[in-house]
Amino acid sequence: MDTKIFQLNEIEKAAQLLNEGELIAFPTETVYGLGANAQDETAVKKVYAAKGRPSDNPLIVHVASMAEVKKYVAEVPFAAQKLMEKYWPGPLTIIFRTKPGVFSKTVTGGLESVAMRMPDNTATLALIKATGKPLVGPSANTSGKPSPTTAQHVYHDLHEKIAGVLDGGKTGVGLESTVLDMTDPKNPVILRPGAMTREVIEAVIGPIDTDRHQVSKEEKPKAPGMKYKHYSPNEPVVIVKGSNDQWQKAIDYYQLQGEKVGLLANEECIRFFETTVTDTFSLGKKDGIADAAKLLYAGLRYFETTEATVILAEAHEAEGLGDAYMNRLEKAAGNHYFQ
Ligand code: TXA
Ligand code: MG
Repeated sequence: MDTKIFQLNEIEKAAQLLNEGELIAFPTETVYGLGANAQDETAVKKVYAAKGRPSDNPLIVHVASMAEVKKYVAEVPFAAQKLMEKYWPGPLTIIFRTKPGVFSKTVTGGLESVAMRMPDNTATLALIKATGKPLVGPSANTSGKPSPTTAQHVYHDLHEKIAGVLDGGKTGVGLESTVLDMTDPKNPVILRPGAMTREVIEAVIGPIDTDRHQVSKEEKPKAPGMKYKHYSPNEPVVIVKGSNDQWQKAIDYYQLQGEKVGLLANEECIRFFETTVTDTFSLGKKDGIADAAKLLYAGLRYFETTEATVILAEAHEAEGLGDAYMNRLEKAAGNHYFQ
């Protein structure tokens, strides 16, 4: 199958393919999603196949308005309503109890809940509206790889497996949405940190629990996706925290073992070590967490094309957006820090 890159003036064509049961990737403010009609079982199955995604990992249903949510879920708790009014469209996915018979087990992974999100991207909202359907939208990467932040990343992973990708340029946030479980409205839980920070959510609905996704083998995970290997390039990633001294030690340590070092760090750090390492990718200004979040996945992908055999990646404080950044980076690194 030829995978077509659609420009923003070709939304109607892309919508028509979705309505014919084809897969079309779309841009959002977070990362690119792999779209299919959430009510077309064959199309949804194709999403799992294209990504190589485990079948017990449920999908987020993307809608173009708040009003639609009521059609698809058992109940919209008051706190969820307040959050949607304030922050939709935006990088906040909310999990509701399902209304029986609306979405198949393939969408919900057999859970009694369903994840809903209204992405903040004009073209994609127009695409959803043009189909008149709710669309599933997992990140449009091969399972286990970093999520795509450009149409080219999607094409790299999924060409010949999907009908097309709507090209909306680089995504803004760069990390996936916050996933908030509201199935028990008295006890909302953040299942996946994201751009919508805990502080911002708490300002609207009061204190919430943070589930750190530490799932044991026996326990059924709350966000099934968090238990799988994630965001991993082909080369091992090692997190470096601290001053130039610490970077120097890490670089020496790996080079002594014959490794070719790639640096994924702020521009100052890169300027300092550039001539001593094999390759570099800048995460923007020092202490600029928004840039780092935006560039992390592109950086991890970049090193797949270089000679580097190990990637040394910069830590940030795990607060605000840094919480999501460190969550993804720790997964990419399998929690491996240079000590
Ligand atoms: O920013 C995003 O959320 C992107 C863009 C494309 O919208 N989408 C995305 O989807 O990241 P995906 O499928 O890559 O991640 C969805 C996460 C997974 O960890 C999944 O297990 C969890 O949400 N999830 C989905 N439905 C759930 C449910 N009913 N209960 C608990 N977790 C759920
Ligand atoms: Mg994903």
